[in-house]
Amino acid sequence: MLNKKTVRDIQVSGKRVLVRCDFNVPLDKEDPSIITSDKRIVESLKTIKYLVNAGARVILCSHIGKTGQNKTLQPVARKLSEMLEKDVPLLKDILSEETKDHVMQMEDGDVCLLENTRMYEEEESNDPEFSKKLASLAEVFVNDAFGTAHRAHASTEGVTHYLPSVAGFLIEKEIAALDGEINNPQRPLVAIVGGAKVSSKIAVLNNLLDKVDTLLIGGAMTFTFVKAQGGNVGKSLVEDDKIDVAKEILKKAQENQVSLILPVDTVIAEEMSPAANIYVSDTNDIPEDYMGLDIGPKTIELYSEIIEGAGTVVWNGPVGVFEIDNFATGTNAIAEAMAQSNAVTIIGGGDSAAAVEKAGLSEEMSHVSTGGGASLELMEGKKLPGIEALEDKE
Ligand code: 3PG
Repeated sequence: MLNKKTVRDIQVSGKRVLVRCDFNVPLDKEDPSIITSDKRIVESLKTIKYLVNAGARVILCSHIGKTGQNKTLQPVARKLSEMLEKDVPLLKDILSEETKDHVMQMEDGDVCLLENTRMYEEEESNDPEFSKKLASLAEVFVNDAFGTAHRAHASTEGVTHYLPSVAGFLIEKEIAALDGEINNPQRPLVAIVGGAKVSSKIAVLNNLLDKVDTLLIGGAMTFTFVKAQGGNVGKSLVEDDKIDVAKEILKKAQENQVSLILPVDTVIAEEMSPAANIYVSDTNDIPEDYMGLDIGPKTIELYSEIIEGAGTVVWNGPVGVFEIDNFATGTNAIAEAMAQSNAVTIIGGGDSAAAVEKAGLSEEMSHVSTGGGASLELMEGKKLPGIEALEDKE
């Protein structure tokens, strides 16, 4: 549970409040003025509206894209103006006198948005001078950027050294789901972990093995486990240097009496291409010239039954190459099984959240995280610097 002060714990009326959101939203490739998923903006509204209604002067800030890309938050300012039904001007230069003048003249309930914090290199280097200047625009800092809470940047961590700093409602909600529900779950607690590489999931697997009753494995990392057990993986993706790690994970599961389940069958093809012919094979016996690209029908049935019997299900990482329709069946079936289940259902962000959103099932889940890297780090048991830096609850 979140042991930090939130917007409820401070007086904001008449104050200039700097709110860090994660408005790093996907934009259309052809027309970057179009936002292709506004989930992160929608999820920020509760805190913003609360502050507006409480009479605060709300100064929003966020990054979008990477440093050097110099993307603009203009589409976000437009979207916010629509959603809040009030003008949300974009202040183009965070450090200019114009910006300072604008925020000093704001009235209670006004909202503005500062341009992309990553237009300044000092953002990522967490430069104290830049943090101080950013902080000088406001009297209070609210961090509601859960998706960026794993970054110790000027606008997430640096500013907390110069302003009273509390959490927003989105951070509170994410922590309640990703920390609260996983550490204090309705049992049985089932985790589904997919993705291409064991190496990027070692920490999350190790941490979850201390908590879950059942761990369902999917995605190409399956084949490193299969090889570790002596199976034939054909030309599936395998991390040969992680075979020992896979063995250790299998051993830890046994010691902790966690039932770690690998796919029993696998959709295979000669190449990872939309045009490839697809077949189903035993996961342990994939023919030499083939690679595994999705979980097979028997596995879908098995995993769906386990999900149906769960008290809590947490999912991180697609179980197949879901970007290609032929290999998206397993990932869609997991989303469907979770949507049908009466369990508490939690989707770690990133690809699994994108898959659930694409399937139109987000509303059926108890929680879909807005954080990719942040939710993974939290599930790895790590502390997130953007949250750690906030004031403790008394
Ligand atoms: C994200 O999209 O995961 C967050 O906005 C963080 O972005 P970053 O990985 O570029 O720091």
